[in-house]
Amino acid sequence: MTAAKTVEKELKRIAKLDRYVRPEKITGAIKLDSNENFALDAKFVLQIVTEAARRVDLREYPIDELDGLYAQLAKYTGINEKYIGAGSGSDQIIELLLTTLASNNNKKGKKGSSGRAAVFVPTFSYFINRCELHGMAVDKVPLEKNFELDIDRFAKSAKKAGLVYLCSPNNPTGGQIPKKDAVELLDRLDYDNALVLVDEAYSDFASYSLAKEATKRDNVIVLRTLSKAFGLAGARVGYMIAGEKTAGLFRSTIQSPYPVSTLSLTIATGVLERADFVKKTIEDVKGERRRVFESLDEIKGIKAFRSDANFLFVETGKKKRYSAIAKALEKEGIVVKMLGNVSGHTGCMRVTIGTQEMNDRFLKCVREGAAS
Ligand SMILES: Cc1ncc(COP(=O)(O)O)c(C=O)c1O
Repeated sequence: MTAAKTVEKELKRIAKLDRYVRPEKITGAIKLDSNENFALDAKFVLQIVTEAARRVDLREYPIDELDGLYAQLAKYTGINEKYIGAGSGSDQIIELLLTTLASNNNKKGKKGSSGRAAVFVPTFSYFINRCELHGMAVDKVPLEKNFELDIDRFAKSAKKAGLVYLCSPNNPTGGQIPKKDAVELLDRLDYDNALVLVDEAYSDFASYSLAKEATKRDNVIVLRTLSKAFGLAGARVGYMIAGEKTAGLFRSTIQSPYPVSTLSLTIATGVLERADFVKKTIEDVKGERRRVFESLDEIKGIKAFRSDANFLFVETGKKKRYSAIAKALEKEGIVVKMLGNVSGHTGCMRVTIGTQEMNDRFLKCVREGAAS
């Protein structure tokens, strides 16, 4: 096949794939659709951004700033910096890992090959989209009725894959895999030809992290981000925690030399230096999560699922109720992620936990919609 024909064929394949659609920005709306952290005081972030802007010299490449970030990440996570690698959001780390794996992808879809990924569904659809973009076959194992993971069933698929993705707490369902099950899965997949990616974007709101487990293994990478709990989605700073060999290779060879801007690095370091303040906000969000969950539970016809993240997965049931709630939210200027029917659950939405006032306005809309 000529080069031009190959390109044409590949572009045709890509044009048919699902893609991530960035949410629309509605001026003045209350944004509860992307799991950002609006409970974190905007003034707190602004002050750190202003201090950072005064300090940095953007004429220079970032050199020391990356070391500064590693030192603060080590302090926050309690994990030595030799196990940590940073990137421009966890999205970019995912992308780099897929690029690296896909370059060895001539065995597409074969058992145990790097061209085959295993995920449970529903999960973070961006990850599936990116695997497919890279030409990987993706085995999708459904979660059980209440979005619990059957680890025997999952391990069967995972064993055939070169890449295994565990989103925990899971987006969009919110639950974290029980620690015992998660560690058992890592034990069962503890062999060199399977890379296990544990996406812990929301673990700051959860009860445990697998970061320590990852440092003990060469085939496990835990992905974290400052976009959620740390309120820095716009700064684009993510990090991974892995075994010393894997993390070292990521930093020295896989990652580009200057993946994050000096400004973002300085801001991220500044926010991490004040992690105690952020931790208080995380506790506030967890309190609100419980309150919103309990309030939803009292509304007839509405079911919320237990969450370990800063959002709730809500099932509203029949179409009439779903539409009435959507209308009430629109009128109130609140944006949530409308998911429709998901894995046998009807009229679903994912709502970010915001400030008490935002959450009250959301609850008011659900009550109104459910009563109409
Ligand atoms: C599960 C999960 N992983 C990763 C990301 C991306 O995070 P980042 O902003 O660090 O790229 C998100 C963002 O929504 C997410 O939900």
